[in-house]
Amino acid sequence: MGGNPGGAGGIDALVRDDGRVHSAIYTSQEIFDLEMERIFHRGWVYVGHESEVPNAGDYRRRTIGRQPVILVRGSDTRVRVLANRCRHRGALVCENDKGNAKQFRCWYHGWSYDDTGRLISVHAPEGYDQTLDFAGNSLTEVPRLDSYRGFLFASFAPSGKSLAEHLGRAAGYMDISIDASPAGEVALDYGVHRTKYHGNWKLVGMDGYHPTVLHASMFSLRSKMGQASYQDPWEDASASATRHLDNGHVMLDLTGSRMHNLQEHLDTWEKVEGGPEYVRAMRAAYGRERGDYLLAQMGDPHMGVFPNLQLIGSHARVVIPIAPDLTEVHMFPMRLLGVPDGVNEYRLRRHEFSYGPASFVSPDDAEIFERTQIGMMAEADPWLNLTRGIRRETRAADGSIAGRITDEIPQRYQLQAWKDMMSEAA
Ligand code: FES
Ligand SMILES: [Fe+2]
Repeated sequence: MGGNPGGAGGIDALVRDDGRVHSAIYTSQEIFDLEMERIFHRGWVYVGHESEVPNAGDYRRRTIGRQPVILVRGSDTRVRVLANRCRHRGALVCENDKGNAKQFRCWYHGWSYDDTGRLISVHAPEGYDQTLDFAGNSLTEVPRLDSYRGFLFASFAPSGKSLAEHLGRAAGYMDISIDASPAGEVALDYGVHRTKYHGNWKLVGMDGYHPTVLHASMFSLRSKMGQASYQDPWEDASASATRHLDNGHVMLDLTGSRMHNLQEHLDTWEKVEGGPEYVRAMRAAYGRERGDYLLAQMGDPHMGVFPNLQLIGSHARVVIPIAPDLTEVHMFPMRLLGVPDGVNEYRLRRHEFSYGPASFVSPDDAEIFERTQIGMMAEADPWLNLTRGIRRETRAADGSIAGRITDEIPQRYQLQAWKDMMSEAA
C-alpha cells in the first residue's frame, strides 16, 4: 500500500462496512507503528492482575505496546505502573521478569529508586553540587491505572474514557471467570506459559468458524466422550452465539449450548475430587439459577477484551504485539479461591489439554496464524472476506450485536473499534 495510512481516507478505506478488509492492516509496518501510537500508547491496555503483586515491593516487568514498564506495589500499598527507564540516561532499571525489591538500582551509573518510583540516591552525588532535584526525577508513572475486580488496566492518556466506559458490557461477562469462584475471587499465581508466532497480533482468537475444521483432531477425541444428547457448541446450528459487547470487546458466547449440556457439566463435577462440594458452594453463593449458569460456563467467558486481553478456558491470555508479523502470547491459568484443590487441579489439567505447549488447540492456532501471515504476502488481491453472517446479525436483549457461532461478528466489530481508534487524531 502507498501513502500515509493515517491520512484522510487511509484507514477508512482499509476496513470497509461491507465486511471487506485489506490485508495491509496485518502486514504493514506503517499501520503497526500507528497501532502502537493510537491503540496501545493511548487507550486502556491490560497490564496484570492484583494477585500478581500482593505485597509491598512485589513487581512484574511488563510492556504496554512498545514501552517497557514495571507493575509494582509500593510500600505505601498502592499499585503503580512506572516507566522502566532510568531518569539519568534512559537505561532499564528493572531487568527481571518478576520479584520483590525495596529499590530498583540502575546498573549503568547506580541511580536508585524506591518501590514507589522515588529517586532516593545517586552514585557520587557531590558531582551535582546539590543541584539535582530528587523529587523531580522519580520514575515516570503511567497516568491512569484502574482495576476491574483485580484485573488492572493502564492508559498513557491522562484523561479520556474511564475504564468502566471502555469495558462497557464486557465487564459483566468477565464475571464468568471471576465468579467461577464461590468467593468471587481469582488469583493469577500459577505462573505463565509463553508462545511466540510469526503472525500479526490481531489474528489471535475469537473465531467460532474454525474449531471444527482446524481442531478436527481434538473433536474426534471428544466425540467419543460425549453423550447422545450433547450439543456441539461449535456447530453453526447450535444455540451458541457470537457477540459484540462494546468497543471491540467480543465473545464466542457458548451459553446456549452449555445450558443445554448442563447435566453433562454437573456429571463431570461429580467425578472430580472436590467437585460435589464445589457445586454445593456455587449454588449456596449465587443461588441455584446463577450458580448453575456459572457451573455450565466452566469459568470460560471465551471473550476478547480489546486490544490485548482474552479470557478463554480457565486462563487469562495476553497478546503482545512485537512487529507486524511477530506476536507473543502469554497465558496465565487462573486459580479459584474458596474451592477444593481438586477443582483447581482439574481446571489446570483441562487447560494443559487444550492450551499447553503440547496440547490439542493452541499449537494448531499458532501454526495457522503463521500460514495466514505468509499467505497474505501474496498481494494479487489483498482483500479478505469477513462477511460471514453479515445478513443475520441481530440485536440481543442486552443491546449486544449477536450472530451464530460461526459468524464473523467478532472480526467485523473488533476491526470497527480498531478503525475508530486508529482514525482518532490526538
Ligand atoms: S542511566 Fe541510570 S544511572 Fe545512568
Ligand atoms: Fe483455535
